[in-house]
Amino acid sequence: MKLLLTVVFAAAVAYYMYTPMPESIQEPWRLMVLDAGYRSAMHLGSLKAWLGFGNSVKSIRQSLEGVDDMMRWVSGSGSSKVPGVKVSDVTFAGIPVRVYEPPAGGEGHLRRGLLYFHGGGWALGSNKMESYDVMCRMLSDELNAVVVSVEYRLYPEVHFPVPYLDSLAAAKHFLSTEVLASYAVDPERVGVSGDSAGGNLAAAVAQEISIDDTMGVKFSVQALIYPAVQALDFNTPSCLQNQFMPILYRSVLVQFWMQYLGADLSLKSQFLVNNHSSNITPELRARLDWTVLLSPKYKKNYKRVIVEKGLQGAAKEVPGLLDVRAAPLLAGPEVLAKCPRAYIITCEHDVLRDDGMMYAQRLQDAGVKVTSDHYEDGFHGCLSFSTWPLEFDVSKRVVRGYFSWLKNNL
Ligand SMILES: *[C@@H]1O[C@H](CO)[C@@H](O)[C@H](O)[C@H]1NC(C)=O
Repeated sequence: MKLLLTVVFAAAVAYYMYTPMPESIQEPWRLMVLDAGYRSAMHLGSLKAWLGFGNSVKSIRQSLEGVDDMMRWVSGSGSSKVPGVKVSDVTFAGIPVRVYEPPAGGEGHLRRGLLYFHGGGWALGSNKMESYDVMCRMLSDELNAVVVSVEYRLYPEVHFPVPYLDSLAAAKHFLSTEVLASYAVDPERVGVSGDSAGGNLAAAVAQEISIDDTMGVKFSVQALIYPAVQALDFNTPSCLQNQFMPILYRSVLVQFWMQYLGADLSLKSQFLVNNHSSNITPELRARLDWTVLLSPKYKKNYKRVIVEKGLQGAAKEVPGLLDVRAAPLLAGPEVLAKCPRAYIITCEHDVLRDDGMMYAQRLQDAGVKVTSDHYEDGFHGCLSFSTWPLEFDVSKRVVRGYFSWLKNNL
């Protein structure tokens, strides 16, 4: 009986964990474990909310923080891994930030500066998470940079434009001459960066700073890691090809966007079939036309999903859909032309692959110098899994590529 129960239990666990993986994924089982972890956190969060214990997104956030504490306990904290970097939690224009200062002092020589926005669908994550904290310490140490990691507010406490405005306020504060001087940062060498939703904020903030004539100091580079840059087409080839790919399913991507933009979540089925973007102008549509912006290798045989008469008035009810501060891909060429040199990382097994590729292409068309790194065996979120016990080979390569581009260009 015991044996039978064990077998049944093991089979149930294996069934829960098993997800078919594309061949090019190098450590499929490790990714399944990671995926099962995320799914359990989501299921637990929804269950807790269903039982009446608060908001599901907050519960998911708490579960992920629990996992994060466990990781720190297993693998040792960031301060032990990268000693020498001075870390302080302060506020920039009222926004909490964590500042990392490299061991080499500022006496007489100026250092690089880097503003960082973490990912997590504008709803999850924190600058204090182990993976981000360790990476920022390493960035500070290896680049001799003052790194500022921003704790912008999240959904459900707030939605667009608040996270964007928090990010922009922190950016403007950091770029002020006095603040840069107080940290001994070279005003010619300040970059902005982020992953996923953080890449969205980095791109949007970079645009605004670039066109703001009152800003004396501008970012010299932007480094975007699998950024989300548009919410009008959820049927790009990468969205369809990777709809069940961990750790960002297409339905979760749509959910994150709808939450961020304050859309009525009961309309999700309409968003999934692009019914929310039926009434946009041809000019706007052209700015996210993947049939033009993607190379044939990625278009495959996918067809563009454009609905003639979909959800009426969606753009009016969800103004963020057409707002460049939420969707930087919608910016016109005259704005893109002013943006800083860019480094864009995309992953093949990622719903956001085409967002990143289209943005890279449009920046380039506008005359901006762009370096694109595409990882054929990459998946969404892989940047954050480069340390034991959840380490992936591709994650290490992504981190190395990112660091070396910043070393050579910032
Ligand atoms: C999308 O819009 C079309 C056209 O108005 C409608 O027939 C269809 O039912 C809508 N789809 C969903 C999932 O609501």
